[in-house]
Amino acid sequence: MRKKLVVGNWKMHGSRASNALLLSGLKEAGPWTADVAVCVPFPYITETALALTGTQIAYGSQDCSAHEQGAYTGEVSSAMLADVGCRYAIVGHSERRAYHQESDQLVADKAKAALAHGITPIVCVGETLAEREAGQTEHVVKRQLAAVIHTLTHCIGEIVLAYEPVWAIGTGLTATPEQAQAVHAVLRQQLRAATQKADAMRILYGGSVKADNAAQLFAQADIDGGLIGGAALKAADFSAICRAA
Ligand code: G3P
Repeated sequence: MRKKLVVGNWKMHGSRASNALLLSGLKEAGPWTADVAVCVPFPYITETALALTGTQIAYGSQDCSAHEQGAYTGEVSSAMLADVGCRYAIVGHSERRAYHQESDQLVADKAKAALAHGITPIVCVGETLAEREAGQTEHVVKRQLAAVIHTLTHCIGEIVLAYEPVWAIGTGLTATPEQAQAVHAVLRQQLRAATQKADAMRILYGGSVKADNAAQLFAQADIDGGLIGGAALKAADFSAICRAA
């Protein structure tokens, strides 16, 4: 079946010194049966690559440009990320959608740019608390995914999808396994209508995943691993989540 994938999203945390400690802790804690990756801030990608040489831990970025190259000050292209060995790029994280006004279409274009350079985009979708309370969860995540399906067409089967309810991110409020599974099932169904690869695609859950709730979440039929924020910053916590997968 689908091999589980656990990805640590370090967000804007870390320093050369703290990263070195975290990565060496992870190297000691592995190996795991799940696939494991860390998505680190841009300046630390190269050092992370060196630290992880010869391990099972892949690495990636937390964003990428939708543009190929050129006069886009501050942007980082997928070609550059591929050049430094990234396997993954998170795109459409709710923090980027909210603080950088990223539209569904821009997120889809970023996913396309990543794939064009052999990088697997981890495309995030998820509803806010207000949207959930208004009964719009399904509508919102389907709209977000539809833009990606429309843009990638036959390549949609190459992405990793991540469901991250915005109200569960960094709040300690986790979606129950049943709540998460319900949305994952909706997303899987939407993917089935778009690609024959839908049942082989990984859909990760993200939002306050911790060592003590990971196993229950990962036991759900359509939850294929996790996208981990806060708990990815401590080797023991992240490693325990990887073990639960
Ligand atoms: O991308 C991971 C994320 O947004 C979840 O963060 O801290 O709730 O695990 P956290």
